[in-house]
Amino acid sequence: MSTLKQTAQALVAPHKGILAADESSKTIQKRFDKIKDLASSAYKIGITSTPETNLAYRKMLFSTSGIEQYISGVILYDETIRQEIDGQSVPKYLENKGILAGIKVDKGAWRLPNFEDEKITEGLDNLRDRLTEYKELGAKFAKWRAVINIGEGMPTEAAILANAHALARYAALCQEQDIVPIVEPEVLMDGPHDLQRCKEVTTQTLKAVFDELKLYKIDLEEILLKPNMVISGKESSVQASAEEIAKATIETFKEVVPQEVPGIVFLSGGQTPDQATENLTAINQIGGPWQLSYSYGRALQDEALTAWAGKEENISAAQEAFLQRARKVSEACS
Ligand code: 13P
Repeated sequence: MSTLKQTAQALVAPHKGILAADESSKTIQKRFDKIKDLASSAYKIGITSTPETNLAYRKMLFSTSGIEQYISGVILYDETIRQEIDGQSVPKYLENKGILAGIKVDKGAWRLPNFEDEKITEGLDNLRDRLTEYKELGAKFAKWRAVINIGEGMPTEAAILANAHALARYAALCQEQDIVPIVEPEVLMDGPHDLQRCKEVTTQTLKAVFDELKLYKIDLEEILLKPNMVISGKESSVQASAEEIAKATIETFKEVVPQEVPGIVFLSGGQTPDQATENLTAINQIGGPWQLSYSYGRALQDEALTAWAGKEENISAAQEAFLQRARKVSEACS
């Protein structure tokens, strides 16, 4: 079996999934600001994102004792992959715990010119060189996130095709550099659309993505797919139940995701930790020919971040919250 196939399978080993801890400096500041609103008045000072505070927070997560039972890999940000924990590089520190290091390689989603409110993910320039460096730093897998908006007249064919093309070019470069690509086309939950509309757009998006992956000769046994669940828009007056979400999600994937893909690792996309856990449980109750697991950012981190609130004395409570949530999400994959 190829190394890439082994890595892809290890990332979706039974009861295990991925922690997405690859927030950019701007995004992690947003997460820090959120706890300022939630936490008690003692914590109203807030946390400013710096390389040091970002590392203190991430060290709290990564050093949680026993987390390796539930977490197979961590997606890192460029800043973090170059940092050290206890005198070891972060990838080495994770490796010693039996956790694989991954890296976000896209440069964010930017306005698609001529298409108001639609985005194209950038970062293909010099990607080969960046992947070579990340590999030397210890990355075994990578992530590229494309964003698809649902709205009036959206998504356009142009936005879907441009993003599918970029995902395929990224995946080809990763496989060339012996790095497993996580292919992430995220249809956003934002908006008043219903479950059916999300299903149509997710189907259309995934079809375009797999067409492009085929065109660019991607080995589908050496990737992981990181999609949204098929879910009602956040502002929809009718919110589908976990069972309806699971049924629509599995129907969609059976139609468009080839069986060779070893695993589907969902993003949480703004669902609460409980919703993301409940929906993943319902999805696994139906099941499919792929491992159905997680690559959650917010759903794994939210409770731990709130408990931590930037305070040294809260570390063990925060780690307990993180461990408990990871255990619940892992159980959802049973
Ligand atoms: P969320 O689970 O918070 O959506 O983050 C996952 C992720 O990596 C988005 O790219």
